[in-house]
Amino acid sequence: YREQIPVDKGIDNTAKLLIEGYNYITNRRNKFGRDIFETRLLGGQKAICIAGEEAVKVFYDEEKFVRNGAAPKRLRQTLFGENSIQTTDDEKHRHRKELFMSLMTKERLEDMNRLIERELVNAVDRWSNDEEVVLYNEMVLLLTSAACEWAGIPVKQDELGKVANELEAMFDSAGAIGVRHWKGRVSRNMAESWLQQLVQQTRKGIVEGSKDTALYKMAWYQDMNGELLNERIVAVELLNILRPIVAISVYITFVALALYEHPSEKEKLINGDGEYAELFIQEVRRYYPFFPLLTARVREDFLWNGHDFKKGNLVLLDIYGTNRHPDIWEHPNTFFPERFKDREESFYDFIPQGGGDYYRGHRCPGEWMTIEVMKVALDLFVNKMEYQVPKQDLRYSMLRFPSLPQSRFVISQVKKR
Ligand code: HEM
Repeated sequence: YREQIPVDKGIDNTAKLLIEGYNYITNRRNKFGRDIFETRLLGGQKAICIAGEEAVKVFYDEEKFVRNGAAPKRLRQTLFGENSIQTTDDEKHRHRKELFMSLMTKERLEDMNRLIERELVNAVDRWSNDEEVVLYNEMVLLLTSAACEWAGIPVKQDELGKVANELEAMFDSAGAIGVRHWKGRVSRNMAESWLQQLVQQTRKGIVEGSKDTALYKMAWYQDMNGELLNERIVAVELLNILRPIVAISVYITFVALALYEHPSEKEKLINGDGEYAELFIQEVRRYYPFFPLLTARVREDFLWNGHDFKKGNLVLLDIYGTNRHPDIWEHPNTFFPERFKDREESFYDFIPQGGGDYYRGHRCPGEWMTIEVMKVALDLFVNKMEYQVPKQDLRYSMLRFPSLPQSRFVISQVKKR
């Protein structure tokens, strides 16, 4: 069957997307009573918005969609970089995805946990001398240090702040216009140039490091034609590792917020085994806003859900709305970690870091690392330190991408436990 899907009228609804933020698609879905509708965005382009489990399944069907040419230019200029893995398809994508996945071995994930643990324990010592600590800012610095060390990238202590600022600006500018967007672009250019030089030095043997680091593997990675990547692209892909590791600071800040907003959870975490910690982390990733949506383009015409998808059409998958979809989640707007207990895992219904298969599709290769690092931070907050949360503005905007508590989470009277 074919039918006319609902249309959000207007020649360009980008302004509505900016005004309603994470809820733009959900609001229309509620209004139309459908998980599919048409709109016009990004300069009046026709775009189909979809949400829910079936939508995730179709979105991650590689025969139906391509990513090349789907991400808006302003995102490539800040968040991803040009010619990054996010913009590749088919054999080229799968070949490069192997590279990213090869960095995520059990050993290398444990290396990261050790680095983070060391950084956090040192930080608690420092914090105990400070009157107040802005948790998010501290996490950005500490994750930058751990990310660079993990990836085999040498950074002098006095340059750490600058590198941290640049990496943060790249994801913080994702949904920004004006000054914040420009800060992201300038930061990306500076960081790409710096890493490009480092890749040159690695290839000349001037910088040496362990063979299992991202720097080494990416510098010497051969594409499907057996050729080394151009240095600029290696730099872009290194940033595709460093930047999102630093972005875990957003989730860690939400972990702290969740503990604060739900004090009874702390008891369960102290008394529970590691299993409850895992449920709690999953619920933080489901409940709090991070990635709002994903974009792809239709590869070839097909019919789905009564709608003719035409080659080249822009399609938006609602990440935030799927993680709170009432057909998937009971009481979706309640924070309730137990919902993940004995839950059957599916590639298509819980998608804070994308869905589908890691190797074949674009699902986030850093998902395991993100969960592990969040667990280390949660264990610190619950079991290894004491702190107070002074009065502050903890509201987080549903319009800003990525969202973050206004105060960036201030803590005081920090003590080691
Ligand atoms: C892709 C979210 C952490 C590396 C993605 C995607 C999302 C996402 C939504 C897009 C999936 C798609 O296009 O289908 C997040 C969030 C993180 C995070 C919320 C929390 C901070 C990480 C980490 C790494 C990483 C720690 C690396 C160490 C990547 C890469 C891609 C990606 C390279 C592109 C994959 C591809 O195109 O095949 N991430 N991510 N991310 N992420 Fe993450």
